[in-house]
Amino acid sequence: MPAANDREIATAVALLRAGELVAFPTETVYGLGADAANPAAVAKIFAAKGRPADHPLIVHLADANVLDAWARDVPQAARLLAAAFWPGPLTLILKRQSQVLDAVTGGQDTVGLRVPNHPVALALLRAFSAAQGAAAGLAAPSANRYGRISPTRAAHVRNELGASVQLVLDGGDCAVGIESTIVDLSSGVPRVLRPGAITADDIAQVLGKTPLARNPAATDADADVVIPRVAGSGMAHYAPHTPLRLVPGEQLQHAVDVALAAGQRVAVLACHSATRVVPNLYWHAAARDAATYAHDLYARLRELDARDDDLILVETPPMTDEWLAVADRLQRAACGSGQAD
Ligand code: TXA
Ligand code: MG
Repeated sequence: MPAANDREIATAVALLRAGELVAFPTETVYGLGADAANPAAVAKIFAAKGRPADHPLIVHLADANVLDAWARDVPQAARLLAAAFWPGPLTLILKRQSQVLDAVTGGQDTVGLRVPNHPVALALLRAFSAAQGAAAGLAAPSANRYGRISPTRAAHVRNELGASVQLVLDGGDCAVGIESTIVDLSSGVPRVLRPGAITADDIAQVLGKTPLARNPAATDADADVVIPRVAGSGMAHYAPHTPLRLVPGEQLQHAVDVALAAGQRVAVLACHSATRVVPNLYWHAAARDAATYAHDLYARLRELDARDDDLILVETPPMTDEWLAVADRLQRAACGSGQAD
């Protein structure tokens, strides 16, 4: 794995302290980082992504012991989850300290916090807090244009954000491949706002009770993290340009036949191999376990999108807890696909 060296980390810290953006790898996806205490730097994130200003950002920390510098009234459940899963793919939504920038929280009374589990991210966060103050944090959304597929390789970031990001630290392929699980602990009742590699079962093991699921009233079109607290959002995420449809396994062959008969070029992402080779059909057999499927998902969607087919058909994944995060991302991809920039 390409690893950023000390000199690159020092360059990154200098850029961040000067209010510039640095993209960095995490175990989930690449983040587009800025000093979370610098309003001008945070504003550059929104400009680079084309992201609406009311969408809050996750603050990445070097260590759980600076939690209280960012959050107030921290419940015991948060400490338990941080102890169990940090560094790792879990974001905690907590009541914010008053000095946290409105630009970071989207003006809400809560803040999203996480300690990522990637050697380059941790080296960067530690060096940044050594230079800037122990509680320093990096605001970092996924390093993609708003509404598009999250990057899991440094090249994805460079291709998509180009000159708007001064430095992309290369940490190789992201191990998890989809964004962190987000748990809201700001209201007394733990609730999963975004499913991820850490499942509701994993959280229940630690808390002794199952967290609530995402607000059932929220729809896929509502945005990244649904829930009314993300105001004014109205677009699906993780979306390829090519129209993408989810199709149950038993209907897949029929859907392929119909599209081919209509003269369309079709790409398929399924959990089994193609049964025949025909013109205008590209078939990719995906991994059968949820973790490998998630690891590969965004790079695969980018590849399928780049083929310029008329339609991407994806076999609906199993409806089990471990596939929930993958199913969530695929539904959003289907919902926002087929739109030009
Ligand atoms: O795995 C991840 O979480 C990646 C890596 C880079 O850490 N980051 C990421 O950031 O996915 P982003 O901005 O693409 O998605 C963060 C989500 C957004 O949907 C945002 O609405 C939600 O977190 N969020 C952040 N702060 C929040 C808050 N205070 N309340 C509710 N949702 C919040
Ligand atoms: Mg994102």
